[in-house]
Amino acid sequence: MAKNILINKKINNFKKKIHVSGDKSLSIRWVLFSSLASGISKSRNLLMSEDVMASVKAIRKLGIKIIFKKGICNIYGKGIEGYRYKKNLIINAENSGTFGRLILGLLINTPYPIKLVGDQSLSKRDFKRVTEPLSKFGSKFKLNKNKFLPLTIYGNSNLNGINFHEKIGSAQCKSAVLLAGLRSNGTTLIKAKKSRNHTELFCKYLKLPVKIKNRATYDEIKVKKVKVIKPLNYNIPSDISSAAFFIVLTALNKESNLIIKNVNINPSRIGVITILKKMGIKIKLKKKKIYKNEKIANIYVEGSSKIRPINCPSKLNSGAIDEFLIIFLIAAKANGVSYFKNIGELNKKESPRLKWGAKILNLMGVRTVTTDSSIKIFGNPHLQINKKITIKNFLKDHRIFMTSVIAALSFGGTWDIHDKDSIKTSFPNFLKIINELKK
Ligand code: S3P
Repeated sequence: MAKNILINKKINNFKKKIHVSGDKSLSIRWVLFSSLASGISKSRNLLMSEDVMASVKAIRKLGIKIIFKKGICNIYGKGIEGYRYKKNLIINAENSGTFGRLILGLLINTPYPIKLVGDQSLSKRDFKRVTEPLSKFGSKFKLNKNKFLPLTIYGNSNLNGINFHEKIGSAQCKSAVLLAGLRSNGTTLIKAKKSRNHTELFCKYLKLPVKIKNRATYDEIKVKKVKVIKPLNYNIPSDISSAAFFIVLTALNKESNLIIKNVNINPSRIGVITILKKMGIKIKLKKKKIYKNEKIANIYVEGSSKIRPINCPSKLNSGAIDEFLIIFLIAAKANGVSYFKNIGELNKKESPRLKWGAKILNLMGVRTVTTDSSIKIFGNPHLQINKKITIKNFLKDHRIFMTSVIAALSFGGTWDIHDKDSIKTSFPNFLKIINELKK
């Protein structure tokens, strides 16, 4: 099978209703909580992507039975202390920062050292941000160059709660410490800059000993040792981060409109909707409901002929952290200069995404001014590409691949986009949905 995709035609206008796949953050967290439950947990619509399967494979290695049958994932939890630790265990997080960081919180009391490895992209990412607070519980870590994978965790059976001030706004760091707190004596106090709160909502639903106070710019989380976790049946709602590609494709194609069904619209995740609405994109959330503390809705979006530039307020950054690349395409067609600041974290994702965002825009003929933590995008409402663009060597970052496909279908030109397989990380049926919209 070809490893790249060639696109040389814009998409025709479409009016469709689609479903995108299950939310990645929720899928990984459901696997982790279910792996500690006392009994069988079942989920429907679990995201069948490489990141989630890396989590499933690792949990199986820890002695937990996981079976997929007729679209349902069954996890046979053996209780909070149910992992079977073996000597010389190697856990492979592959491309998943979320799994790689969260699992460390749960392995913190391992009786034998465990090695954590990842793929080329994950091995370039900072793990010290999570091992540093975790070592305060009483475990030890040895990292490659003091910061990277592969790392080895040396657990401790007598862990004590810690005070942790999470300043980056990283849900992965917050969650890893929270999970370690559930395994530790005493109380763990986390003061965390706002970030996605799925872990906390799982804890609340499962009635775990976790108390949360929401302040304006940060949250206070108090965690005590957990004794039992009940099995949890869960229908995973669709992923807003996957929906975002189709929201933007619709917005950039004037006569189009689209309904995306049953999407998780957790307020800590919908920065993309708030930002695009400010830029004049018509988006409506309908049939809102609450499912196990998570908000869900159908998203209605229409093609726009007038796009306003934005000076993006930094408080919206954490809720849109995975969507900036695709938001930049909207800014490329805005009637003026857009400015996104304090987004240096983008360069710490699966690839240096802020740099890549600028690179793709420049290849498209859009002027940008970038620093390590900001970008100015000089929009052009009449943007039309007439040349050949090749996108390659992007560390197989799934979001770079998908953003490039949306740009090719919306702005024209001839695009040769490499590493098609990268979509398997988060959204394996992305190209299938594109084909449905073309019909
Ligand atoms: C995630 C948190 C975010 C996000 C990632 C998923 C999570 O990362 O970018 O795709 O599920 O907790 P950070 O915690 O590094 O901000």
